[in-house]
Amino acid sequence: MKYLFNYLFLYVCMMVCIGCAPKARHYVIGVSQCSADIWREKQNAELRMGTFFQDGVELRFAAAYDSDERQVEQIDSLMKSGIDLLIVAPNQVATISPAIDRAYDQGIPVIVFERKTNSQKFTAFMSADNYEMGRQMGDYIGNRLKGRGQVLEVMGLKGSSPAIERHRGFRDALRRFENVKVVETLTGDWTEHTAYNIVRKWKESHAEEHVDLVFGMNDRSAIGARCAMMELGDSSVLYCGIDGLPGENGGISLVRDSILEASYIYPTYGDSLLQLAIDILDGKPYKKEVKMMSAMVTHDNARVLLMQTDETLRQVARLEQLHEKVDEYIQQLHTQRVINWLTWGVVVLMLMVAVLLYLYRTGKMTLRRERVVNNLWNLNAEDIKTGKEADVKTADGEQKTVEGAVTSVFISRFKDVVEARLDDCNLSVEDLASDMNLSRVQLYRKVKAVTGASPVELLRTARLNRGYKLLLTTDRSVSEISYMVGFTAPSYFTKCFKEEYGVLPGDVRS
Ligand code: FRU
Repeated sequence: MKYLFNYLFLYVCMMVCIGCAPKARHYVIGVSQCSADIWREKQNAELRMGTFFQDGVELRFAAAYDSDERQVEQIDSLMKSGIDLLIVAPNQVATISPAIDRAYDQGIPVIVFERKTNSQKFTAFMSADNYEMGRQMGDYIGNRLKGRGQVLEVMGLKGSSPAIERHRGFRDALRRFENVKVVETLTGDWTEHTAYNIVRKWKESHAEEHVDLVFGMNDRSAIGARCAMMELGDSSVLYCGIDGLPGENGGISLVRDSILEASYIYPTYGDSLLQLAIDILDGKPYKKEVKMMSAMVTHDNARVLLMQTDETLRQVARLEQLHEKVDEYIQQLHTQRVINWLTWGVVVLMLMVAVLLYLYRTGKMTLRRERVVNNLWNLNAEDIKTGKEADVKTADGEQKTVEGAVTSVFISRFKDVVEARLDDCNLSVEDLASDMNLSRVQLYRKVKAVTGASPVELLRTARLNRGYKLLLTTDRSVSEISYMVGFTAPSYFTKCFKEEYGVLPGDVRS
């Protein structure tokens, strides 16, 4: 029993230790994108890729498809879902601010990304310099037109900060070129189809107006404008955009193929964004304002840039493959670990059962011996005659006080019967029962109820007891004594004796 408690104690300690072990971190980061397009997809992919290098980071994405209401709803439901940090690119400056403020007021750190809000309630802001981008593009266009020409400007969504800032930078730069005229500023929404529609409509109503260059505030707007102009037969116009994405239909290859005149890399930097989020959550130092690097794409550098970006994309694809492999491997490892734990569990369980069985058996044997000797054979004649109470244990181990003369007389008689005939090696339980005027079953039940042992067990104990006394009081050999106490073979007597007293019969005398 003692061992069993030790095992249980160890097991409980182990469980407590496992319970107290420091929990692995688990960050849930909500990403609220104002839009869904190739630029956003690239950024989301980089964010996801960032999680390959960070343990315990879960991303929850939401895309508002350029709708203010949808983005507000999505931010609220991200908050409800229990995020630890919010990354948000607000569709427009004013409309999304209240939702962002709500998150911030709830204690959720907020990273405003790339588009601004009109509130100061954010933890960090990360973006490229949109004013500078517009300014450099204005400069490039003024020079490209050699200081003279007509420009059509297609803005992004009017209330979004990149549109406002790019426009300001562009206009400021063009001030230097007094003969470069902006014939119209059309308000788009960053999408290709809106740019197509508004440019087409404008051109149809301004057929006489000559346009040398269209500045689309992003590459998609520039392409939409180009489609409209080409469809209306104007193929001499130059186009500039912003975004300069890598890959097949990205801005860089459009410049290389002279579809666009120039673009400007508007960096996505999803991995840096994720790192900033984790630094904030880890409580590490971080910059409240992070500026991302960007650069012009022109015919001069498009080829080289494309080579480099293609190589990066190739490496990214390989990294993704590697990640898949690692994932597979981790999965296998996990399964293996579960199998190992199960195997160990079964082994430990079997061991415990074996120990329990062993303890149960040995405990039962000792109990039986104690019961037999203490409860019956050691009652002296005086006790029996006076009908003194006998403490016995029942078969299921319960301590019971068997009272009264009836029990005592029965025990006394049984003892007499056994002792009178125990030298008879052919003595059977039937013989004992008939000596006591009982059936074999009655005798068994009564003896068992009173002593907790069976008649055969008592008979054997009585034989061993007598043998023990004879060893001490006579100089008969062990063999002779074993026959005298009704054993058919001395070797069996020796074996039982050792079991009962823990010593060999020969050792009793010495
Ligand atoms: C992507 C995008 C880009 C643009 C930026 C402005 O959703 O429309 O094309 O440069 O957002 O915020």
